[in-house]
Amino acid sequence: MKIKEQELIAEARNALKNSYSIYSNFKVGAAVQLKDGSIISGTNIENASYGLSNCAERTTLFTAYSKGYRKEDIVAFVVLSPADHLVSPCGACRQVMSELMRPNTPVYMVYGKDKIEKTTVKDLLPFSFRKEDLNV
Ligand code: THU
Repeated sequence: MKIKEQELIAEARNALKNSYSIYSNFKVGAAVQLKDGSIISGTNIENASYGLSNCAERTTLFTAYSKGYRKEDIVAFVVLSPADHLVSPCGACRQVMSELMRPNTPVYMVYGKDKIEKTTVKDLLPFSFRKEDLNV
């Protein structure tokens, strides 16, 4: 399925306006394209107990799953930061991404005005901890 790159980026950028990042002032947006053509976006939501903050990537994937979508439905993923430098998903998000998306799903990291770095779920986290590892 064709990746709606510009639409995905626009949705992720639009999500920045809802970022609840009053502690870091660091806004991040994300978006997933789904097989049915829809796009779901999300942003980072912080908390006074800092460790409870939720990154844009996880907000987005949890929203998609909450609506009933599953990894087979996800065509592409975008994470976006307005910063001048590349912002790639944190370790916690990589672990969540590796379980909630298929290994070859494209991940676009967008930064600055329109710079894009392209990778995949599996390249972001080789040797992830998997549900199969629980079968001891
Ligand atoms: N953050 C994300 O939302 N995604 C990332 O990939 C990196 C970090 C958020 C978490 C926190 O709200 C803020 O950015 C600063 O760490």
